[in-house]
Amino acid sequence: MVSFNHETVLGVQHWTNTLFSFTTTRNPAFRFENGQFAMIGVKCNSTPLVRAYSMVSPNYTEQLEWLSIKVPDGPLTSRLQSVKVGDTILVSKKPFGTLVIDNLSPGRRLYLLSTGTGLAPFMSIIGDPITYERFGSVVLVHSCRYVAELAYAKRIKEELPNHEFLGELIKQKLIYFPTVTREPFENTGRITDIVACGELFEKIAMPSLDPSVDRVMLCGNPNFIVDMRTILEAFSFREGSSNNPAEYLVEKAFAER
Ligand code: A2P
Repeated sequence: MVSFNHETVLGVQHWTNTLFSFTTTRNPAFRFENGQFAMIGVKCNSTPLVRAYSMVSPNYTEQLEWLSIKVPDGPLTSRLQSVKVGDTILVSKKPFGTLVIDNLSPGRRLYLLSTGTGLAPFMSIIGDPITYERFGSVVLVHSCRYVAELAYAKRIKEELPNHEFLGELIKQKLIYFPTVTREPFENTGRITDIVACGELFEKIAMPSLDPSVDRVMLCGNPNFIVDMRTILEAFSFREGSSNNPAEYLVEKAFAER
């Protein structure tokens, strides 16, 4: 049985008519590792209606932040999308998930490959100083259909490099590579395609994937995960777990899509 804290909505941002994010209070007893998710939602006829949502906010912040799509007929997101400041959100007392850097074996470069709201856990991972202690470079790739769906692009490009404590590390080590698949943009093409043909590595001036030094995390569209796994396995990457850290990890829990 999952038990829940009651948190209060502190702010809401609508990115597009299908994508929004919001912040809530955080019960101080709620502890998590960056990259994990919680079950969150609302009460519906006195029963919790919840789904898995990764924390966008790193684990040292006072508030919690969440990124969600809006599904017109989705049982939860059709309700969640109209949340306003002061509303109550249920957040599981415990976090879940294995998409955490401790489940990767030591490496030199970390690739965080995401589509859509799959960006969420990577926001907390790029906000974690330990990520930069473990890896010489961190490459965050985010693929969306349209430019307006590149949530947090401004925060990643402009705010994080000027962050009081992390700014210098982020300037030196974080490479952000947004790519858009259904309209013109500075980078276009699916992640699977730009990895397979090498365009990604050419553009970021890195060698092609190498399981002896590169580590990869995947989060997003289930078809993307299937196809990206095939590519990684062809490069001889092995999937890690908490008992057996290895070269890549996949998030298997998704918010309604
Ligand atoms: P496309 O526009 O070519 O379908 P989400 O579904 O999480 O919002 O993600 C949408 C992004 O994921 C789009 O850029 C979409 O590209 C891409 N995508 C969807 N399916 C795959 C796949 N099998 N491999 C790679 N990228 C994919």
